[in-house]
Amino acid sequence: MIKVAFYDTKSYDKPSFERYGETHGVQFKYLETKLNEDTADLAKGCDAVCVFVNDTVNAAVIDRLYALGVKLIALRSAGYNNVDVRHAFGKIHVVHVPAYSPYAVAEHTMALLLASVRRIHKAYNRTREFNFSLNGLTGFDFHGKTVGVIGTGKIGRIFIDICRGFGMKVVAYDPYPAAGAGIEYVALDELFAQSDVISLHCPLNDGTFHTINAEAIAKMKKGVVIVNTSRGALIDAEALLDGIKSRKIGAACLDVYEEEADIFFEDRSGHILDDDLLSRLISMPNVIVTSHQAFLTEEALNNIAETTVSNIRSCFGNDGVCDNELCYRCGSIERCKSNRKDKCF
Ligand code: NAI
Repeated sequence: MIKVAFYDTKSYDKPSFERYGETHGVQFKYLETKLNEDTADLAKGCDAVCVFVNDTVNAAVIDRLYALGVKLIALRSAGYNNVDVRHAFGKIHVVHVPAYSPYAVAEHTMALLLASVRRIHKAYNRTREFNFSLNGLTGFDFHGKTVGVIGTGKIGRIFIDICRGFGMKVVAYDPYPAAGAGIEYVALDELFAQSDVISLHCPLNDGTFHTINAEAIAKMKKGVVIVNTSRGALIDAEALLDGIKSRKIGAACLDVYEEEADIFFEDRSGHILDDDLLSRLISMPNVIVTSHQAFLTEEALNNIAETTVSNIRSCFGNDGVCDNELCYRCGSIERCKSNRKDKCF
């Protein structure tokens, strides 16, 4: 039996992980706490840790896990910006779930946009109180508008298909354009200038940190709608708030937030929210916040559990080869993946 410390457990995680774990020889030790320097020792006696987006897997945590004999960090997410993959190299293997349901995230992106632009969230509250007034609920047609998509990977491309279904014009920016996908790529500044709606679907890294900042917002159309279902730090939240206050930004839909780590995924009702910036954003009539919910569908949860268990089995299997391993042998995660036959360590 492979023993795995499962950090940041939520009630919706357990059924699928129990089902796949039991039938594949993987025993999960479910922990409600997040992984950080104070909680790493809870993995003592385990072969692996299973972590999510707001667990902290920095150099100190990796060193502690390594000292405990942990051999694998199994991310149950696609994004891995919270793991110091470079530091893990040569010590602990790291695997992730590259795709579990890109549809879940792309569909949530459009759900947020529709709710925001057609004021569904406001109408819902009104009619529950028998307020049938339409004042202040005027939206705009998506048909004929331009959507700028930043990042045309799995999720970005599905979102583009959805937008095309609405009759929107699509422009995109990606340093690695998808060949043959029929997407019109433009420079980032051009995307800012043309778009009525801007949606972020790129990973968070040094190059994409604060892609949406004051400078970028200054280049956008007045009334632009910004949606972020990728990673919070792609947007400078203070600049976003300034843009909303100055009426430059027409609306913002946020499934992720720069400082979400100690806030999102938890019930904070009845508590004073210390984060003034988030409080102010939430108080705005043209901002919708969901708490990193875009992935949360039945299909995605099943796929996450199935792939994570399969990743763990592969890593502890005979040749230890796992297609979803992240490593730094070549200084490039993607190149390592395509040359998987030679195990890096
Ligand atoms: P992917 O790896 O298929 O696509 C990412 C795309 O971003 C690639 O085409 C890449 O070339 C592009 N890219 C890289 N650097 C860029 C830059 N500087 N500017 C513009 N584009 C750039 O990833 P996928 O599956 O489409 O996921 C995208 C992001 O969505 C993930 O990185 C993750 O942060 C986020 N995500 C959020 C979830 C949620 O629940 N809110 C769930 C799953 C993923």
